Amino acid sequence: MTALISRPARPLTGAAAVPGDKSISHRALILGALAVGETRIAGLLASADVLATVAAVKALGAQAEQGENGDWRVYGRGVGGLAEPQGVLDMGNSGTAARLLIGVVATHPLTVTFAGDKSLSVRPMERVMTPLRQMGAQFTTRSGGCLPITITGTPSPVPIVYELPVASAQIKSAVLLAGLNTPGRTTVIEPQPTRDHTERMLGHFGTEVVIMVKPGAPGAKEITLTGQPELTGAEVRVPGDISSAAFPLVAALLVPDSKITLTGVGVNPLRSGLIETLREMGAAISIDNPRNEGGEPVADLTVVTSGLKGVTVSGARAPRMIDEYPILAVAAAYAQGVTRLEGLAELRVKESDRLDAIVRGLTAAGIEVEASDDALTVKGGGGPPPGGARIEARLDHRIAMAFLVLGMVAEAPVEIDDATTIDTSFPGFADLMNGLGAAVAAQKEG
Ligand code: S3P
Repeated sequence: MTALISRPARPLTGAAAVPGDKSISHRALILGALAVGETRIAGLLASADVLATVAAVKALGAQAEQGENGDWRVYGRGVGGLAEPQGVLDMGNSGTAARLLIGVVATHPLTVTFAGDKSLSVRPMERVMTPLRQMGAQFTTRSGGCLPITITGTPSPVPIVYELPVASAQIKSAVLLAGLNTPGRTTVIEPQPTRDHTERMLGHFGTEVVIMVKPGAPGAKEITLTGQPELTGAEVRVPGDISSAAFPLVAALLVPDSKITLTGVGVNPLRSGLIETLREMGAAISIDNPRNEGGEPVADLTVVTSGLKGVTVSGARAPRMIDEYPILAVAAAYAQGVTRLEGLAELRVKESDRLDAIVRGLTAAGIEVEASDDALTVKGGGGPPPGGARIEARLDHRIAMAFLVLGMVAEAPVEIDDATTIDTSFPGFADLMNGLGAAVAAQKEG
């Protein structure tokens, strides 16, 4: 375990590029493994989570290697062409890797065991097994339906129409990826829009995904693909991860006299809820040089220190900023007045119970906060919160980084007990923040 301490920062200034998008990196590797020919990936996030997907696609028979210029090359096996791995697939801390790859294997005639770390081994998997059983896959699990899970994929998959019971891009993607090797039309109905990287990337690899808005149901979509297409290897440029950019972005909004630019950040509208919310709070964020890279919108974000005020955010926006609540709670603690965040039930089943981790962490740092089953209220003081706490990171990278940002903006330093999982999404976090003016350092134990 590496403990880190974050002390009040100097004004944050300069430009930085955050690492590649985690969601898009997983998908590029998986579709590359299912495509025919070479897929070249520039800007792949080389983090622990994504390297778990690299190892898994190799164990399933694809080739994946990093070239000298840093780009990755994947040589796929074609849809339906994956091979049975010899060992257990270890997904580490990554729910996305586990759920998406379980979807892929479900419609291959293979038996595969998936395992994960302590955090992933208590996260719900029934949510993907339910539709995949309907398609014909069989599962053996521990009680409670958690990892380790052994799946036997079906040789004769059945296409389904599946309505998501929770707004989850991972469930949607698991079903669509299973639908790839299923004859006929597989449809996912999502009542609330969730990130659409799988649909966009399928288009980029040459497979049409038909998206229909559901009449009379605002935001609801019906997403259909016709199975057994030939996916063709593609060139993918992975944008910077907006969920990683969120940490320096909020830090620069709060640390006095800051101005930073984050270059090449993915600004997919289904991921940008944090920017909308922070602007409603009074944040000055400009979105410059908008461009399209490999089917995804990308831009440079410039942020200057801004006085923020409390707001209410309804659950309708939650899927578009689901990973950003820990850092938004830090912004709310500094803002003037009360912030109320609704529709947060899914936070309880992330890398940790994030609602509980936020409440305990902010309380320890002297901030008034209250939570119900699915809502959070933070009483902001309109300036630096007290800080001076030691926070348990609970194998949760975003809890670790959010509280390190709290230490940058609080009156007294904030420590986290274990920084190791930061590498699952944001390798080099402390160096990047320190390069902008923060003071994050290793903390001696004891
Ligand atoms: C992800 C979807 C989200 C998000 C996760 C990555 C993805 O999870 O929290 O970090 O890549 O599809 P859910 O789809 O379960 O909400």
